[in-house]
Order: sequence, then C-alpha cells, then structure tokens
Amino acid sequence: MKYRIVTFGCQMNEADSEVMASLLDHAGWQATSASEAADLVVINTCSVREKPEHKVNSLLGELRIEKETRPELLLVVTGCMAQREGRALVKRSRWVNAVLGTRCFHRIVEVVDRARAGEHGLVIADLADDPAKVRCEPEAQQRAAPLRAFVPIILGCTNFCSYCIVPHVRGAETSRPRDEILREVEALAARGTREVTLLGQNVLAWGRDLPGAGPGQEQVARGDKGSVRTPDERERGMFAELLRAVGDVDQLLRVRFLTCHPRDVTEDLIDAVADLPKVCEHLHLPIQAGTDGLLREMNRGYTVDQYRKIVDRLRARVPGIAITTDIMVGFPGETDEDFARSMEVYEGIRFDAAFMFAYSPRPGTEAAKRGDQVPRATIVKRLNHLIEVQNGITVERNREEVGAVAEVLVEGPAERGEGLMAGKTRTNKQVVFPGERSLAGALVRVRQTEAQLWGFRGEQQ
Ligand code: SAH
Ligand code: SF4
Ligand code: F3S
Repeated sequence: MKYRIVTFGCQMNEADSEVMASLLDHAGWQATSASEAADLVVINTCSVREKPEHKVNSLLGELRIEKETRPELLLVVTGCMAQREGRALVKRSRWVNAVLGTRCFHRIVEVVDRARAGEHGLVIADLADDPAKVRCEPEAQQRAAPLRAFVPIILGCTNFCSYCIVPHVRGAETSRPRDEILREVEALAARGTREVTLLGQNVLAWGRDLPGAGPGQEQVARGDKGSVRTPDERERGMFAELLRAVGDVDQLLRVRFLTCHPRDVTEDLIDAVADLPKVCEHLHLPIQAGTDGLLREMNRGYTVDQYRKIVDRLRARVPGIAITTDIMVGFPGETDEDFARSMEVYEGIRFDAAFMFAYSPRPGTEAAKRGDQVPRATIVKRLNHLIEVQNGITVERNREEVGAVAEVLVEGPAERGEGLMAGKTRTNKQVVFPGERSLAGALVRVRQTEAQLWGFRGEQQ
C-alpha cells in the first residue's frame, strides 16, 4: 500500500508531515510522489491566506475525478484548513474519507485503518490533544534523519493578531517540556542531523505556560487582553536558556529558531545569539506594518520605534547578523500615506530579505469584519512596489558581502548547474559553488564572488 502526502503552508506543517510519513512507514506503508500510484493521499493544508486554500480546493477537485475511476482511493485532509472547516469539509467534499485537525495528526494510522474498514466522513479535531509527544517515539523516527531538521517547541499561538487565523486553528500556546525537546534534538544529532531549527509561531513565548513559569508569565501565556509585560517579566526569557541547552548537544553544528515576535525579544535572547557559537546569526522578525496606527490595529504590541531599537541592538551586539521579516500590505484602513510611511521605514531598516504578502481576509478574524477593506487592485499595486524596492535592497545588501568568506553547511548538489554544490551561510543565505558531491553534510569556507537576489555564487577556500 502506497501513500502520498501533499504539504502546504509553513515549516510547522512540514514538520507534522514528516511525523505522519514516519508513522505510516512504521505501519507498513510506502511513500510515493504520484497520486495515481497512491492508495492514500493525505493533504496537509494551510489557511493563512485565501491562496493556499484555493490550491487545496483545486487538488481536492482533481482527486475527486481520480476517485471516480478508483473509488478505493483514500483521502485524508489534515492541517489548518481541516481544523478550520472540520465537519463542513466532509459535508461539502463527500469524497474525502477523513479530516484530522492540527493537534490530531498523530492519529493518522488509526484514521486510515478506520477508513479502510468502511467508516466514512470521520472528523477528529480536538485542539486539546497533544501530538508533540509522539515525536520522541521510535515510530516517529522511521525516516532518515535530515541534515537540517525542524523541531517544534511550542504549538499554537495566543497573540490574536487581528488579521490572523493561526490562533483559531492551532489553539493556545502550548510549550513542549524541555527534556522532551532535548531528547528529540539529541536523537536527531545522533542519527546525523547537523542543524536544527526550533519552531513555533512565536518561539520566544516558549516555557511561559509550563508549570513553574511564575505568575507574570502565566498571565502572558493566557494572552489576557490589556496585560502589559513589565521589563522584569520580559527579561526572564526561558527561551534563551533553552537555546543554551540545545547548543550543548554534541554533534550538532548549528541551531536556528523561527519565528520571533518583536514584543518578546529580550536582552538575554540577544546575548544568547551573540555568545553561543552554534546559534546562527539570523533573526526572522516579522514587522508586518510600518506605522504605529496599523501596528496597533493589528494588535502587534510594539511600535515602529521599539522595533527599530531591537534591530539596532541586534546589529550592534551581533556583527553581520541577518535580519529578515514578514510584511503585509493592504490591511483594512491602510491609506496611501500609511503605505508611503511604511516604505520609508522598511527602506531605513534595510532588511536582508522579506516575505511579502497581500492582506487576505480570514473568516472569523477581527480584521475581516471591518468595513474599510482596501480594494484588491490597490493592494496588488502596493505589493508590487514593495517587492521591487525590497528585492533591490536584498541584492544591494548581498553585493556588500561580495569578497567575504562565509561558513557554509553544504546540503547537496545545486538545483541547476553541472558540478555545483549548494548550502547555506550562518545568516541563512544560499551559496552555490563548484565542488565535489562528497562535500554534502560538511562545513566549508566559501568566498562569495557574485551576489544575486537568491544569494551568492562562490568558490571554496
Ligand atoms: N507567527 C508568525 C507568523 C505566521 S503566519 C508571526 O507572528 O510572525 C506568516 C505570515 O503570514 C505572517 O507573518 C503574516 O505576514 C502573514 N499573514 C498572516 N495572516 C495573514 C493574512 N490574513 N493575510 C495576509 N498575510 C497574512
Ligand atoms: Fe498569527 Fe500573530 Fe500568532 Fe503570528 S503572532 S501566528 S501573526 S496571531
Ligand atoms: Fe498555514 Fe497553519 Fe502554518 S495556517 S502558515 S499551515 S500554521
């Protein structure tokens, strides 16, 4: 019996798909990359914007046709869209056998067995379930350890940014216990992983909801409206301590983490990035918008000035650090003036790179209910302008680094080009250089000789 998993969305979904694949492998299934060859197709979905949901719907349409000729084909929908729609999904798409919510994907084998036994329209979507536990079990470690692995450390999000679906579909912030995280990282390192990326919607919130975190931290973890963090509470960053512990794991060469909420950046986090040799000099720090008014309406909890200060502090303390971001254009009420002022802010900060998005109203969120939605054509125009300017900045910044020698973790042959190998710098920039295939997995020194939007061409030193 063969399965195919199609994954949309963020690294969290990729990490969840890996676990599902391992559980299926353990149960005797075989992976395939072609739906025609599959007896089971799992679609791990994303709801963050309309576009990924459209993609899922068209894939569902294709599979409906496939299922007309092969009624025995099993279809399971998991992830954020599965969680958002729940029963409605099996009602509107009756050819779907089962729906598994964001905290229930560890039940994939059970669900598939039940579907094979004839149960139809099964929906399991309990946000109180705990799928992370399974990650330390041997069943979840069936697949070859990747050179670079994702390790979720905190599930869900309690920030409720006014535009965002994630807290609604991933549940409240739930930290994994420290020893479980370390056990997983140690197991990965022992099996050959050389770089881990600690994952969470806001990794800096890690630990606040764990027993013994203290009253101030618990209040923050509940996301109480109007709770203001005192500097004292902010300084008690448990995440920085976790970074130190992960940095001590033998055989591991690099530690990364994603994503950081600017509101939770503490001095001891900056110290950890500056001081810990394995922690890479890169922070992904979504700014989202460039005016205080928009940031307030987004419920982001920081001002432009506070954001700028964090960036200044990081750049002063960690020479050569790369700072990347997420930017959204067309949030309800965004005027031409807001956009122009935001552009000035982004041009002033000069991000190394940015993921740039058109605002997309998500059902059930505060922002979607507003009457002052920006016309689509205006959003597209603004987004194109932003992309053009930011791409210019990205190339310019890369050009400034031409001639420098970077430490590159070699991943394997480059996608294009004979005899070229590809890898990433500590700052998470792509480098392509002529090299032997045997270098895969090694740390090498590469002189950056040519700058591109995507990274560098280089020569091994
Ligand atoms: N937890 C992360 C973000 C996860 S979602 C954080 O807070 O930074 C990834 C990105 O998608 C966000 O940073 C945001 O820029 C974008 N995004 C989220 N909701 C969106 C929406 N409704 N429309 C457009 N972009 C959105
Ligand atoms: Fe969404 Fe905000 Fe949570 Fe990020 S921090 S996942 S943008 S609610
Ligand atoms: Fe998408 Fe869910 Fe990730 S909405 S971005 S897959 S948390």
